[in-house]
Amino acid sequence: MKMNKLFLFQWLLLLIFTKTSLIFSKPHKIPRLTPLIQNIIQDHSNTFSSSTNDLPKEFETYYYKQTLDHFNYGPKSYSTFKQRYIINSKYWGGSNSSSPIFAYLGAESSIDGDPLGVGFLTDFAPQFKALLVYMEHRYYGESSPFKTMEEAVKDEDTRGYFNSAQAIADYAELLLHIKEKYSAKNSPIIVIGGSYGGMLASWFRMKYPHIALGALASSAPILYFDNITPQNGYYSVVSRDFKEASKSCYHTIRKSWAMIDKIASRKSGLSYLSRKFKTCSKLNDPFELKDYLDSMYSVAAQYNSPPSYPVTIVCGGIDGAPKGSHILDRIFAGIVAYRGNSSCYNMNPKPSETGLGWRWQTCSEMVMPIGRGEYDTMFFSAPFNLNNFITDCKKKYGVSPRPHWITTYYGGKDIKLILQRFASNIIFSNGLRDPYSSAGVLQDISHSLQAVHTRNGSHCLDILSKDSSDPEWLTMQRNTEVKIIEGWIAKYYADLKALQKGKMH
Ligand SMILES: *[C@@H]1O[C@H](CO)[C@@H](O)[C@H](O)[C@H]1NC(C)=O
Ligand SMILES: *[C@@H]1O[C@H](CO)[C@@H](O)[C@H](O)[C@H]1NC(C)=O
Ligand SMILES: *[C@@H]1O[C@H](CO)[C@@H](O)[C@H](O)[C@H]1NC(C)=O
Repeated sequence: MKMNKLFLFQWLLLLIFTKTSLIFSKPHKIPRLTPLIQNIIQDHSNTFSSSTNDLPKEFETYYYKQTLDHFNYGPKSYSTFKQRYIINSKYWGGSNSSSPIFAYLGAESSIDGDPLGVGFLTDFAPQFKALLVYMEHRYYGESSPFKTMEEAVKDEDTRGYFNSAQAIADYAELLLHIKEKYSAKNSPIIVIGGSYGGMLASWFRMKYPHIALGALASSAPILYFDNITPQNGYYSVVSRDFKEASKSCYHTIRKSWAMIDKIASRKSGLSYLSRKFKTCSKLNDPFELKDYLDSMYSVAAQYNSPPSYPVTIVCGGIDGAPKGSHILDRIFAGIVAYRGNSSCYNMNPKPSETGLGWRWQTCSEMVMPIGRGEYDTMFFSAPFNLNNFITDCKKKYGVSPRPHWITTYYGGKDIKLILQRFASNIIFSNGLRDPYSSAGVLQDISHSLQAVHTRNGSHCLDILSKDSSDPEWLTMQRNTEVKIIEGWIAKYYADLKALQKGKMH
């Protein structure tokens, strides 16, 4: 929600990055995915919490008795858990009119903020007379089969059910249940998701064409697997965003890393840096500071949305420091500009539920080789090394990640060749200022696999709520998406009518 944006900056203590490192090996991390910046805030602040209790009353919460294991028939497979979903039927045209169902596929967090945050559904429901459904991803929020996330990812017996194939199978089973419940047999379903949820939406359409008529996959980096995309794609875009906002800011950041290292290597250097950057506890390692800055710049770029443009805010601080300021004073001014004037800055936040869950997901199947080399971005070098990654994951969980499973199960390589004659009805939407767009689908694959991107858009911007301050290009992007979806639905109704006629005669 836009109204929260300024408020959000104050709470942004975050870390969208799931650190996959241990102290022993060279640290590196995977940037986190999520459509809503609020979810990142929630990760790091217990005081900011919205719950479904706060939702307007047209959003009704339900729980579905979900199958734990869709793919096996062992004793445990028959266990069930409560999966939360939320329905809004205020705009629905009813089963007799075969009005569509818009189904939001939850991603790696609770769905608390999604009904209001992901405004695309409510904004366009009236014109489609759509039934709205929001489904929570297993293991997150209230849909955890095993008490807390912490317990769930520790338990070797049960965390194996925590994967994307099971999650989309949940969505399939639940959507069929909802169709039954609402006597909506002939209502076409459009699945909508952002970020990781966007990947799920595109994969859902390909795996369950008999359930979803089409998918809107917003900011879905489905090509960030198995080295299809260059490792440094993500950070190249972050760097470009900063360079575009301000060359001097970009150069200041670029030069700052060596300066931090140099000072840290001095006697009492870490104490000096801790004071200079007002860290809440003394730095143990210069990496803590570098990592904090790395995350801050990346988050600013990922959510670099109008009207405030966070990258511009950070650079405003850096460039706006008094003339002749030391590089590190400029960098600190960037922190203050972005995070607000705070008595201290927490560079060691505790991992959140989302952080814990996503870490398991990346250490099992969601292996995204995101890294960067020496001087190929504005950041310090941090290459993704698969062997180190595997070692880290094994230390944490005792099992090895499967870096080729996503491309094996869902595809991704030679996407044009493969999908142009197989798949249909997917919109891949992106904003090119979003670092994840580097691994998104940016060109049409066929007439019904369409890429809709904007030059100045950010992560999942198109599926967030409309706002009177929206620039023209954003409104146009949403309208294009709506037109495409209308086209799918019109065709579907025509097919349905023709078939029903055929049967009658
Ligand atoms: C749907 O149509 C059937 C048969 O025409 C009718 O009996 C029923 O009341 C209608 N339901 C609604 C919700 O309009
Ligand atoms: C930030 O807060 C401190 C006191 O906590 C104050 O001395 C300082 O002037 C403030 N800086 C700005 C830029 O507002
Ligand atoms: C995108 O932003 C740049 C820099 O702010 C601006 O020059 C350009 O006109 C914008 N492009 C569009 C399509 O809005």
